[in-house]
Order: sequence, then structure tokens, then C-alpha cells
Amino acid sequence: MCGIVAYIGPKDATTFLLEGLQRLEYRGYDSAGIAVLGKGGALKVCKTKGRVADLAAAVPARFKGTTGIGHTRWATHGVPSDANAHPHTDNADRIAVVHNGIIENADELRARLTAEGAVFTSETDTEVLAHLISAHAAKDGELEDAVRAALKLVVGTYGIAVVDSAQPDRIVVARNGSPIVLGIGEKEMFAASDVAALVRYTRQVVHLEDGELATVRADGFRTFTEDARTVTRQPSTVDWEVGSYDTAGYEHYLLKEIHEQPAAVERTLSGRLDERFATAHLGGLNLDARELREIRRVKILGCGSAYYAGEMGAQLIEELARIPAHSEPASEFRYRNPVIEADTLYVAVSQSGETYDTLAAVQEIKRKGGRVLGVVNTVGSAIARECDGGIYLHAGPEISVASTKAFTSTVIAFALLALHFGRIHDLSPADGRRIVSGLKALPGHIREILGQEEQIAELAAKYADNAGMMFIGRVRGYPVAREGAQKLKEISYVHAEAYPASELKHGPLALISPELPTVALVPDDELLDKNLTTLGEIKARSGRVLAIGHRAPEAKLADHCIVVPKSEPELDPLLLNIPLQLLAYHAAVALGRDVDKPRNLAKSVTVE
Ligand code: AGP
Repeated sequence: MCGIVAYIGPKDATTFLLEGLQRLEYRGYDSAGIAVLGKGGALKVCKTKGRVADLAAAVPARFKGTTGIGHTRWATHGVPSDANAHPHTDNADRIAVVHNGIIENADELRARLTAEGAVFTSETDTEVLAHLISAHAAKDGELEDAVRAALKLVVGTYGIAVVDSAQPDRIVVARNGSPIVLGIGEKEMFAASDVAALVRYTRQVVHLEDGELATVRADGFRTFTEDARTVTRQPSTVDWEVGSYDTAGYEHYLLKEIHEQPAAVERTLSGRLDERFATAHLGGLNLDARELREIRRVKILGCGSAYYAGEMGAQLIEELARIPAHSEPASEFRYRNPVIEADTLYVAVSQSGETYDTLAAVQEIKRKGGRVLGVVNTVGSAIARECDGGIYLHAGPEISVASTKAFTSTVIAFALLALHFGRIHDLSPADGRRIVSGLKALPGHIREILGQEEQIAELAAKYADNAGMMFIGRVRGYPVAREGAQKLKEISYVHAEAYPASELKHGPLALISPELPTVALVPDDELLDKNLTTLGEIKARSGRVLAIGHRAPEAKLADHCIVVPKSEPELDPLLLNIPLQLLAYHAAVALGRDVDKPRNLAKSVTVE
């Protein structure tokens, strides 16, 4: 949520700042701004409501400087506007700050600073930082000391980059709960909230830890703590190629990421399947078989699609390992003073590894002595670091706001965990082998479904025009319905409601009409007859039905059907979900939506 970029070196900073912001726009896109230090350190700021393209158009031709910071925003304090866009400056136009996160005591600090004479020009919490740093800069001189002193007064989360017109040879960055990564160039340095902004310029990066700051100069950097203790951080190399951060010829990142799923699944599985013992190897769990046998329950925590992937994961664990498992929104869990049990395994799910609610849930569990595993895509992210062990997805960078390949890889990770757990408990070698070969066949099955894209696009165009859609599924199909509805509403803004098929007759059947079509998950499993009965009930009320299953139901039960290849019943939900991704994508395209950057949303929600 919100993107930060910074540059210091011999070149014109504006070029990198604008390009970097474009690459980070998925993190927030309601306003954007940059600040550069021109000749003699003169501070120039340009910011605007709207997209990075609007900012690029607004930047004057003579807006030059070799030190600069930039920001693309997802509003938390104050509406998207020119005034609320970052960077924020002090009244002397000496200090400029960009910030991700939330300053919780902003009101109190604002009142104090106002009493001391500061004049605020925005509604943001961030502006407090500019005035605070300025107040300390006047006293102490060194920018890094002023930033440290200001941050000591701040309660909340932040990733910040600060420039000082009195010290144009440096940028100070700090991290607490919002990522900051430094990029090392040839006689130039970069900083950003995400490596996506850096990979075109350098693959050598340094991730700051929470509570750390860095003073960045063109020829290097120094990392230190809030108490001014120097810490040594070794650079690491970004694993992914530059192309992984591009659309690679696809019209949208979302479509690219949907099509990347076979390869993403192969990576998630890579080196983890053991055919001899019909199990999975998960080196990062940091739990041996004896410790795993002591676990009596599994509690999965995530937000949005990560939570729905967790629901599929819970079913896999219950079915294969016969251990009670349950998924809950991390955003709810953390506020309800949860009972933490020693024999429960907690699993935090997050693509970004940054979602604040999920991170807070992990911290609450750990504070109470619980054991947490992470199922995370972003290596080295805050959630990954906070967990006791876990499974990395290796799905590759996911840029589109709507999660697709990370969702699928998360379910694969849970299938591996369930298989591993199951084989420690009572899952027979024969059933283990069945799941191993089912998993191996999934990339091919996904390719087959993606091959039906044209037909699905036609159906999407037919159904996109409705004011709403109902998604239903039974047991294994219910999390699929929830994720399908989430994807549709998120990117097409069509209202979508997900219900257990069994619950329809207990209320929502009243909604069924020709104007509210139903997407029904009807896998060829032990519940097929029950599902077909539900379809009959919908058709009897003149409802239109789009069925997703392993064979077409009778024409009188469904108006349209998408047939997917049959896997093992426990793995079928994963395949049933793929057409729903394409359906949502093509509905959004048909409605002319901004597919990769849907309104009001951002990729990672790093605030409460
Ligand atoms: C998914 O399409 C959504 N954009 C959203 O629900 C997302 O899954 C959620 O915010 C959690 O993000 P995370 O996986 O990065 O923690």
C-alpha cells in the first residue's frame, strides 16, 4: 500500500522516480508526487491527484535534480487530492518526506506542532513527520539524527524516505512495519518500498529490518538502529528476471499471471514431492515428525483471497490428515483476544507478506507463546520473518491487485502440508501416491482450462451485464464460490454473493430471478446429486445457471457450462477456480474496468 522510490547519483533523479513509481503503482494509485533537490539544494516538489501518468504530465520541463524521492498513494488520512499527495514538506521548504504506513499519534503530534507554530497544509498523518523532522533538524543539524529523534516520538508504522535541502548529498530512509529496500548501483543508489521499482537498475539489494534506518549517498550507504548503533547488512541478489515484473506482451498483468499458473504450480511443487514414500518434503517447517504428531488442531489466518485459500487448505488438512483445521480472517482474529493453544499449529497466509492484519495476528499468537508457520510468496517479507518456519510459494512476483497465481500456489502449498501431515498420521501410502500423482498432473490440467479462454470470454460477455451474480458450492466447492465471487466483485464491480449451495433454500433463494444468474460449482463427486437438486430449484425459479464441473448437466439444469478436467476430489477445487478467474477477468474487460488497478483497492494492505 503506497509506493516509495528514491534516487541519489549523478543522473537526473526524475526519470527514475517516475519510472519507479509506475512500477509501484499497483501498491496505490489515487495520487502521486516527487521531490528533487536541484542546484544548490533547492527543494522542488510536484504532486497531483490521479495516476503516475498524470504526475508525469504535470512535471515541469526544468524539474531537475540528482537527489529525489517519490510516492504513489492509497489514501488513509484524507481524500485523494493534490494537497494530500506526498511528498510533504515543512514550512521552511527544507525537509520533504514520503511515507507508507500509519502514524497513530498523528493528532496529538499535530496539536503540539501547531502550538509551536507549524502550519499544516494537508489532512495527512505524514505531514506531521515533515514538521517533526524539521524541528529536530534545526536543533541537531545532521539529517539522520533529526529523523531518529523525530521517529522516537512517533507511534505507528512507517517506511519513509526523507530529503533535506541543507544536505543534498544524502537521503535518509527508515523502516518500521512498511518495507524499505536499498538498491546498489554504480556510483548511484536507489531505495524503494519494493524491488519491482529497482530491478531495471540493479539486482543488488539490501532489505532494511524493522527499527532500522539508512543514510544513503551516491557512493554507498550506512545502516543503523534508532539508537544510532551501526548494523551491517549484506546485499542480496534479486532472484527474478526483469521480465517477471513486465506484462510480457499480455494486455494486463492479471491475464499474464493467470497464464503463469502452470509454471507457478511447478515451482511451488519443485523438489517437494517424494514419490518413494508418497509424501511431501517441506524443509522450512522447522518441525520434525514427532512435533507434528503432537499437533491437535490447525488454525489458518489470512485476509481476503488468502483467507479463502486458507479455507481450501483447511479442508485439505482435515481430509488428508484428519486433523481439525479452520481458516479465519486474520483481520477478525487479532481483535478478539484469541485463545492460543500449545497443541494448535497456526498458519499465516500472505502473498505479499506485508498485510498488516495478518502480521498483527502472527505477533499476537507469538506473544502468547503460539507456534506460527507462514505460507508466503515474498521471500524475506515481514510476515515470513516473523514466523517460526513455513512454506515459500515461489509463484513469482504478483503485480495485479487481484490475486490469481499466488492463490493457486497457496492451495498447492496447503496440499503439500496436508500430504506431509497425512502421511505422518493415517493417510495410506496408496492415498499418498494418489495425491502425489494428482499434484503432478495439475499444471497440465490448468493448461487445458486456460485453453478454453475464448469460450469463457464469450460467457463472461454474456453474464457481465447483470447487476449481480450468485456463486454457490457445497463443501469443497464453497471456498471456490467465495473466491470466485471475490474475484468478480474486485475487478468488475459486479455485485457477487457467495453461498453454500445447501444454504440457498434457507433464505437467498428469494433473490433468484432471471436478473441474478448463478455460477454453480458442480464437481463430479459424492455431492453431485445434491448439487443437481439445487440447480433444479434455481431453474424452477427462472434463475439462469452457469455450471462449472466435470461434465455438462442436463440442459434443463444449466444454461451454460464450463467443463474442467477431473483431478483427485481433494484437489478439484483448485481447478474449478481457474475458469472463475478467467470469467472475472473477461467480465471486467467487457465492462471496461481498470483490471490491474481496480478502484479503491491496492495490492498490499499495510495499514489496519
Ligand atoms: C485478492 O485478490 C485481494 N487483492 C486481497 O483479498 C488479498 O488477497 C488480501 O489483501 C491479502 O493479501 P496478501 O495475500 O498479500 O496478504
